[in-house]
Amino acid sequence: MADFIPYDDRDGWIWLDGKFVPWRDAKIHVLTHGLHYGACVFEGERAYEGEVFRGTEHSKRLHKSAELVGYKIPVPVADLDRIKLELMQKNGFPDCYVRAFAWRGSEMMGVSAQQATIRTCVAVWQWGNYFADKMKGIRVTMSDWKRPSPETIPCHAKAAGLYMICTMSKHKAEAEGYADALMLDYRGYVAELTGANVFLVRDGAIHTPTPDCFLNGITRQTVIQLAKARGYEVIERHITPDELPSFSECFITGTAAEVTPVAEMAGHTYKPGEISANLMGDYEKLVRRKLVLDKVA
Ligand SMILES: Cc1ncc(COP(=O)(O)O)c(C=O)c1O
Repeated sequence: MADFIPYDDRDGWIWLDGKFVPWRDAKIHVLTHGLHYGACVFEGERAYEGEVFRGTEHSKRLHKSAELVGYKIPVPVADLDRIKLELMQKNGFPDCYVRAFAWRGSEMMGVSAQQATIRTCVAVWQWGNYFADKMKGIRVTMSDWKRPSPETIPCHAKAAGLYMICTMSKHKAEAEGYADALMLDYRGYVAELTGANVFLVRDGAIHTPTPDCFLNGITRQTVIQLAKARGYEVIERHITPDELPSFSECFITGTAAEVTPVAEMAGHTYKPGEISANLMGDYEKLVRRKLVLDKVA
């Protein structure tokens, strides 16, 4: 659970539109297009021991998300990478969460905002484990909401509007005592959690949904590489919910969640086991540069 120091009342620095500003002064006007119309794009990244894990990939994904929702971020990828590091140093956070984001500003307030400037910001803060006591495994319920079709919304953009149903699903799950919710996609296939990708294990093979209508997480791609390097078979395919009882292990991946085993999902129980533990360990070593991917045992 995150701490409760309000996010607008902290010491430190935030980078906003070209300048490092004192944390409490990083403000925008209430009549901001990005707040009203959902096309803010953002990244969630983690830095370990002074280095942002896959930082450039995240900066590139931020640019791609903006392109998918129809605008161009005025800060090049290389500058974003440099700003993240400078900001971590300025705040004194070698280990932290990194949030880079962009949105349409306040010049126009209507569905059309062709002349609105694109604003860009980077903030960093200290954020521990997303889920407590990971190896115990989290309990996940089934969401009432489904991931939308690629014909409905640019579903590969990490854009704020797509998170409305994630927050609704997560709030309902938490109110019922669960840690998170599994979302099916518009066709009824297993998709992802509200902020993480999902993996399932059967007979030693790892199955994971094909990311054709949801985020192909950077952690997901990393964990697939780690699994293959260990010699595990990884099968990307459409998975139906009625298959869920046939798996023995389940784990989720995401920048915030890292690799977290699942003890229960949609009413089925799983045993956080060897494959989950191995990949959790490998990921922890990789992000701290204690393991090189092509040298995994
Ligand atoms: C909806 C959703 N799916 C998957 C992920 C995992 O993506 P990544 O591993 O790039 O953090 C995230 C986190 O960003 C997410 O919010």
